[in-house]
Amino acid sequence: MIKSISQANLKNKRVLVRVDFNVPIDDSGYITDDMRVKASIFTINKIISDGGIPILMSHLGRPGGKVNLKYSLKPVANLLKDKLKYNILFVDDCIGANAENVVKNANVGEVVLLENLRFHPEEEANDEIFASKLAKLADVYVNDAFGSAHRAHASTTMVAKFFTEKYAGLLMESELQYLGEALNNPKKPFVAIIGGAKISGKIDVLNNLLSKCDTILIGGGMMFTFFKSLGKEIGNSIVEEDKIDIASQLIEDAKKNNVKLLLPIDVVVAKELNNNSENQLVTSDAIPKDWIGVDIGPETQSLFANEILQSKTIFWNGPMGIFEMSNFAKGTFAIADAMKKATENGAISVVGGGDSASAIDQLHYEKYITHVSTGGGASLEFLEGKELPGVKALES
Ligand code: 3PG
Repeated sequence: MIKSISQANLKNKRVLVRVDFNVPIDDSGYITDDMRVKASIFTINKIISDGGIPILMSHLGRPGGKVNLKYSLKPVANLLKDKLKYNILFVDDCIGANAENVVKNANVGEVVLLENLRFHPEEEANDEIFASKLAKLADVYVNDAFGSAHRAHASTTMVAKFFTEKYAGLLMESELQYLGEALNNPKKPFVAIIGGAKISGKIDVLNNLLSKCDTILIGGGMMFTFFKSLGKEIGNSIVEEDKIDIASQLIEDAKKNNVKLLLPIDVVVAKELNNNSENQLVTSDAIPKDWIGVDIGPETQSLFANEILQSKTIFWNGPMGIFEMSNFAKGTFAIADAMKKATENGAISVVGGGDSASAIDQLHYEKYITHVSTGGGASLEFLEGKELPGVKALES
């Protein structure tokens, strides 16, 4: 059984919270997407309002077990302080005498943020001694880092064994609830929209969804591998030659499972891979040689929107086209629009993390979607039906 922090009284407790502050930061130190930081405030506020002291720990990027200030959490400390108005005590190492001192002297109302866990190789090695040094800082452990729950690292798994009191944070709880409900107890009809460049990485998700969904809509670069498996010309579009058989198999399995698997019927194609390239709209049977598929077309957008609007549960992962280029973002934004409308009509809408979440962020649609996951890789592994080590470690 996993306990929720909402059941805890954390008065006078030092609470070690694993958060996922792995956020994109540009060269000037500006956080270009702060969704993950904002999503952690509910847990932080709960601890403060109970009269406890949150000690936040996270990784940022992949510094390879060495101190590299490019991956410092300092910009996150500034965001928490300047924008979110927390009283932040930033510690330049996550373990050791200085961290212990700051934690010991912290007062209620203050929030401790420890420097990047991955400056120590022991973090990713799930090292027991390192985990015990982290554990030494607190009385209670909370994991609110859904985005890292698929990693068996010292701060997500090993550390939990040093605590008798351990909880899922409020973000972790809502992620598990919405993704779990969508997967295991969906209101029907249940539609999944799966996009992104490649089938690889999403094969297990697609297989698992085949036994749960009524309809699967395929877009993004992976559509071309499906097209190729049907013998269509795809020009110079992205394709995974070694996944063509898998695409055929998925189409077959959808038929066997009575799942409606829909592929795009029209496609935007471009001469070159840049936003200002010459482009045209073609049917998916008429992709010209030498052209590159870059987005789903308007007929497909209507077809997909229609399916979404008829559904009661909607799950979306992966863009429909190269949405980083504004001329090829229409298909992706059309899915977001349809999800917004469906949610207004009472459907449950869930967006897996990563690119689809950043499309929602660009449109400022968070408030129109039932749940936007903060976990990219983690939400995919969850949807594959895998047990996440960071969640398992919370079991008592
Ligand atoms: C993520 O962004 O998916 C998580 O923070 C995990 O990061 P990682 O892939 O570097 O382990």
